[in-house]
Amino acid sequence: MSDKAALLARRERLLGRNMSLFYQDPAHIVRGEGVWLWDADGRRYLDCYNNVPHVGHCHPRVVEAIARQASTLNTHTRYLHEGILDYVERLTGTFDHPLNAAILTCTGSEANDIALRMAQAVTGKTGVIATNHTYHGNTAAVSQLSTRMPPVGGYGGHVRHVPAPDSYRPLGGEPGAAFASAFAAEVEKAIASLEDSPHGFSALIIDPFFANEGFPELPAGFLDQAVDAVRKAGGLVIADEVQPGFGRTGTHMWGHQRAGIIPEIVTLGKPMANGHPVGGVVANIDTLNAFRKVFRYFNTFGGNPVSCAAAMAVLDIIEGENLIENARRVGEYTRTAFKALAEKHSIIGDVRGSGLFMGTEFVLDRATKKPAPELATRIINAMRERGVLMGKIGVHECSTKIRPPMPFSKENADLMLSIFDDVLSSL
Ligand SMILES: Cc1ncc(COP(=O)(O)O)c(C=O)c1O
Repeated sequence: MSDKAALLARRERLLGRNMSLFYQDPAHIVRGEGVWLWDADGRRYLDCYNNVPHVGHCHPRVVEAIARQASTLNTHTRYLHEGILDYVERLTGTFDHPLNAAILTCTGSEANDIALRMAQAVTGKTGVIATNHTYHGNTAAVSQLSTRMPPVGGYGGHVRHVPAPDSYRPLGGEPGAAFASAFAAEVEKAIASLEDSPHGFSALIIDPFFANEGFPELPAGFLDQAVDAVRKAGGLVIADEVQPGFGRTGTHMWGHQRAGIIPEIVTLGKPMANGHPVGGVVANIDTLNAFRKVFRYFNTFGGNPVSCAAAMAVLDIIEGENLIENARRVGEYTRTAFKALAEKHSIIGDVRGSGLFMGTEFVLDRATKKPAPELATRIINAMRERGVLMGKIGVHECSTKIRPPMPFSKENADLMLSIFDDVLSSL
């Protein structure tokens, strides 16, 4: 039995079956630095996938901030401490009016769970709308929104799913205004259905970048009509920024700013503290107070001094290393190169994304846009064999998901692109 087979068997024995694992030949990663990962055999991989180590694997300033605070104090929010206040002040300073207060959690799932309950507290209703190809986390309430695996006992009557926007095969038949109106019409239909039910309508929850849906290319103002419909019905908009937040899209700090909307509630997670488990909910102080009046909320680990120190270091680095501009510059460069590769490889049907969040959609035939999910799996695995880690995503599971640590450079992109070209040529 190889070491890897032994690890796999041990994992299954100790952690149970069906834990997800990337790649046909799983990677045994033991060290990370910047945009690089090393496996147990000392082999180096270019990380084009992991968004959680936002400012780079093991960034020394984050490591130092964690070590310094961990060696001074780590308690919880039932004692007074400046750490959480300094952080929330700095964080909310990056949001538009009236988003001026926050609750800190340990995961994105918890943040979305709170957001749903905030919307309930404000509206007195429970009905929620989400897209039909989303994932917002793993608590019992939030699992009700995800369509990847139906919840035991089926979906509660309080959830309505609307079709996920797909710019390559747009609802309404074209990528412009008709596409936006078609999406808004689906939201209006779902609102009417909830209003006709005992649940009523409380919120529309969306990732404004629709990352799990395959990050469609949306026309400016795409969400405006849908958001208007929500407001007209007295509902709240929850923006899940777990994936596009913290400057990932290269144009704005937050995905909803890029989409041109101001939600009532914003949820945060993954990149917030570079891998240290920190999530959060940002809202207006009145919304927060409405929540705290109805649900007494305490989170043992959320907002602890070490988490806040790690999260603060991430904000320092994003700013100090100009990482949002880097994401814009390197992202544009990489997409231009992918478009050039599409001239050569007809399997690439679409290239899309923003900043350092992008992908190529693979099709069997450009005319029919028939998805190529099996080929996508082969390509991702071949890239891994050649030392480049990327993932797969999208409504049809046939797009690459490229979302590297934010210090990713043009040289890193060139390496990834040349191996990608070779892999596609060898199909
Ligand atoms: C959009 C989105 N929201 C929420 C979550 C849940 O975050 P966590 O795994 O930290 O609970 C995820 C996780 O993949 C996500 O992609």
